[in-house]
Amino acid sequence: EPVVAGIDLGGTKIALGLVDRQGQVLAGRTLPTDAPSGPAAAMDRIAAAVRDLAEEAGRRPQAVGVGAPGPLVLPEGRFAGTPNLPGWNGFALRDQLAARLGLPVAVNNDANAAALAEARLGAGRGAEVMVYVTVGTGIGGGLVIGGRLFSGVNGNGVEIGHTTVDPDGPSCGCGNRGCWEAVAAGPALGRLATERLGPPPGRPGGRWTARELLDAAAAGDERARAVAEEYARLLGIGLASAVNLFNPDRLVLGGGVMARYPLLAPAMEAEMRRRALPANLAAVTLVPAALGKDAGLVGAALLAWDLLDEPAPRR
Ligand code: BGC
Ligand code: NA
Ligand code: ZN
Repeated sequence: EPVVAGIDLGGTKIALGLVDRQGQVLAGRTLPTDAPSGPAAAMDRIAAAVRDLAEEAGRRPQAVGVGAPGPLVLPEGRFAGTPNLPGWNGFALRDQLAARLGLPVAVNNDANAAALAEARLGAGRGAEVMVYVTVGTGIGGGLVIGGRLFSGVNGNGVEIGHTTVDPDGPSCGCGNRGCWEAVAAGPALGRLATERLGPPPGRPGGRWTARELLDAAAAGDERARAVAEEYARLLGIGLASAVNLFNPDRLVLGGGVMARYPLLAPAMEAEMRRRALPANLAAVTLVPAALGKDAGLVGAALLAWDLLDEPAPRR
């Protein structure tokens, strides 16, 4: 049975796997990104890992798909100054990987890839207009309309994390200030917790991480719960914009922070309902993502399958 390779290229780690047409991951592994070692060295490691996997599984992939943090330039598949991978600006991800593996390579935004996976195989199945929002170190977005991924003109469609929600807010990795991501991604929760509660228990002078705060809240700590609720409202503000902009019937929420969906959902949804247009609200259902950590990798593989299925370009 034919397979493709899916690669979820993140700021700290790279998940890759061999994936069949049904989106099943047949073999996978994770590597550190080690961004400071530079993109060329990372490509060497990715190519070696793909070859290893192929050998172990006894199956050679026919194409490769990559989901990478933006901004990017598509269809060329170049980095365009992504704040998560400093120093990688301008690197020709698609061509460099294609040259190393001798295979066709499709590149898209990481959240776009995950959105495609959720739409076809996960929590977005059956939706007409699905918006996907991922909240982790950054905030990413994806839009799938009638099963087709919308990428914008050059791959930067639905960079919803970089919409301004506070004109005087904290500075963002993109160069702007007060972006939704700067105010409401995981690091902002750690900051808010430290501001409200002081250092975390047992770590004098230390700073909370998002995970510590969410764990404490889930364990029933009242002060942590109050911070989680305040934070969830910041998430709801951006979701209201997503609902107003795209008028989706399904809003799928993924990423590390959303692993605590049940804890965040009530305040997040209440804030969204306070701010969004009633007609748009009436149409939408909020759901947690279904594919977990594999969404990016599987989505990347779907990009590869789509590339193979595309009619050959006319010359
Ligand atoms: C980037 C997006 C990405 C998101 C999640 C943001 O900072 O601009 O392209 O999807 O982080 O990784
Ligand atoms: Na996106
Ligand atoms: Zn920004």
